[in-house]
Amino acid sequence: MAMPRAEITGWGKYVPTKILTNDDLAKMVDTSDEWITARTGIKERHIRTENDTTTGMACAAARDALAVAGLTPSDLDLIVVANSSPDYLLPASANLVQYELGANCPALTVTAGCSGWVYALVTASQFIQTGAYKNIVVIGVELISYAIDYTDRSTCVLFGDAAAAVILQPGLTEAGIMAFELGSDGQHAHHLMVPGGGTRKPMSQEVVDKREMYIRMNGQEVFKFATRKLITCLNNIAASAGMSPADFDLIIPHQANLRIIEYAADKLHLSMDKFFINLHKYGNTSTASIPLALVEAIQEGRLKSGDVTGMVAFGSGLSWAGAVIKMGEAVNKIAANTEPQGAVVLQ
Ligand code: UT7
Repeated sequence: MAMPRAEITGWGKYVPTKILTNDDLAKMVDTSDEWITARTGIKERHIRTENDTTTGMACAAARDALAVAGLTPSDLDLIVVANSSPDYLLPASANLVQYELGANCPALTVTAGCSGWVYALVTASQFIQTGAYKNIVVIGVELISYAIDYTDRSTCVLFGDAAAAVILQPGLTEAGIMAFELGSDGQHAHHLMVPGGGTRKPMSQEVVDKREMYIRMNGQEVFKFATRKLITCLNNIAASAGMSPADFDLIIPHQANLRIIEYAADKLHLSMDKFFINLHKYGNTSTASIPLALVEAIQEGRLKSGDVTGMVAFGSGLSWAGAVIKMGEAVNKIAANTEPQGAVVLQ
């Protein structure tokens, strides 16, 4: 008997209400709207308010996704949460989300930098394909602003906070995840890391004084890695699905920098119209980037039933992850309840 594909049947997102514009940043560090726009394409990003927590943002996105799929938290067989900005070092994010949602199921947290949500999606889809589970929520949530040094102009202009989620269920048709590629190149981990606060260099006055609890990035090296991986991974996942990148109805790239996407589009001889872009509104939301773009693409009617999308993420690790998804009937019911419900304030 053919194994069912994991089909996306629900989707939801949550972004904090507070907006940090390029002009706001220009008052904080030596930068300008012109530089940020020209070098990244980013105009503004959403940053947590005092009421936003990683768990609360994840639950807000998950509740919307459940509502679209016509499910309740008690229907869930598994919760998978991707992130690099947990409420606490322990417990893992997914357990707090399980409790806050009121679900009674296992909960798994996946950490793979900006590639984390695609890793989580592919992991979750294996449980669907084996028949082990039927209803899974896959959440990408990042309150990455907590790890940003707002005195470092080379990183603080890039990142923003967000959450997005999808429901996976066994597909009744050929819709679902058709192909994927996961990758890791830990040799180059030092190009994008938080050097202090872990076991190698525990939190100390020295870590604080050197601001080593914040993200450090070798932007040019990561840029080269990103352009290379966006191109090769798109080619590889398309080939695995028996297609070429030109056959994708929509490409959803990690929303890190418009120049990375433009470079890849040029090398692949593809029109920029094929690429979904929302980085001007949100900046780089790390692991929430791909699901946030996917959810918005569905909500804006850019993905219809039968359409095939190729998505590629890349980031710390260094890591990358791509997937090809055929959309099912569910995307035709773009319901009013896909609007965000608001953040959950944890007591
Ligand atoms: O999600 C994880 C994946 N991350 C990425 O994909 C990020 C990849 N890297 C990038 O997107 C780009 O490398 C950046 C946007 C981070 C930087 O852009 P760039 O074109 O590579 O700039 P650069 O690092 O080569 O710096 C050029 C100049 C430097 O000044 P000098 O040395 O030429 O005088 C920087 O100090 O731009 C300066 N600079 C800035 N100037 C104004 C760096 N950041 C800023 C800034 N505002 N925010």
